[in-house]
Amino acid sequence: MTQLLEIANLKKTFKMHHFDKEIMGCSNVSFTLNQGEFIGITGKSGAGKSTILRCIYRTYVPMGGNILYSSDQYGKIDLAQAQEREMLAIRRNEIGYVSQFLRVMPRITALEVVQNALVEMGYPKEKAESEAKNMLSHFQLAKSLWNAYPQTFSGGEKLRLNLAQAMVKKPKLLLLDEPTASLDDVSKQSVKEMIKQLKEEGTSMLGIFHDLTFMESVVDQHYNMKEGMMQEGVKA
Ligand SMILES: Nc1ncnc2c1ncn2[C@@H]1O[C@H](COP(=O)(O)OP(=O)(O)OP(=O)(O)O)[C@@H](O)[C@H]1O
Ligand SMILES: [Mg+2]
Repeated sequence: MTQLLEIANLKKTFKMHHFDKEIMGCSNVSFTLNQGEFIGITGKSGAGKSTILRCIYRTYVPMGGNILYSSDQYGKIDLAQAQEREMLAIRRNEIGYVSQFLRVMPRITALEVVQNALVEMGYPKEKAESEAKNMLSHFQLAKSLWNAYPQTFSGGEKLRLNLAQAMVKKPKLLLLDEPTASLDDVSKQSVKEMIKQLKEEGTSMLGIFHDLTFMESVVDQHYNMKEGMMQEGVKA
């Protein structure tokens, strides 16, 4: 199997200057994600799960270790050390991320949010628009919301929009931080279907879950985090 992501001894701590204290994000995290595989991560609140995804997406700069990623544009590249402009290009074209905390851009409509993700990748405007509409329909975001600004959307609507924005790109690697939190059963089903479809098309995924039943229905293997450390779980 081809390795897409090889993480070795990843470490992230946070220095609290005013307390002269260090907080543990994660430590000694090592695992490998193969091409086309889905790894699930579980663990108690504060165990360090989101920290790992943020280090890979490099919204956090790791303090130690390596994140070797097989990039289409750059070949094997260590995301722990990559230049900011390389990270920007990789985020634009290769790695999708659905954050646990939903942030939306002001003054951009829901449809534009999804469409722009493809325009940035170089899709022609019409093609980007039709793909964006398909994705919003898949996630059952009401048509009346497509031309509305997402600030006032409900939690579940924002999450479905974020999922559409990340998944429409059919990224090489998709990072999902609690992608079913606050979703009803019908919406969860549409998330599951899209995960399966992307997987068939070759997307590799890393996902954080509290819903273990959902997780077990989509992942190939699973790791549990405890106090910043990763433990191998059951292989699905
Ligand atoms: N930017 C930051 N500054 C300081 N501490 C942080 C920061 N980000 C995370 N932490 C700390 O790192 C630890 C791990 O946080 P993380 O967000 O990775 O947990 P988690 O496993 O995702 O939890 P949850 O299930 O609640 O989302 C926590 O103790 C948290 O307070
Ligand atoms: Mg988290």
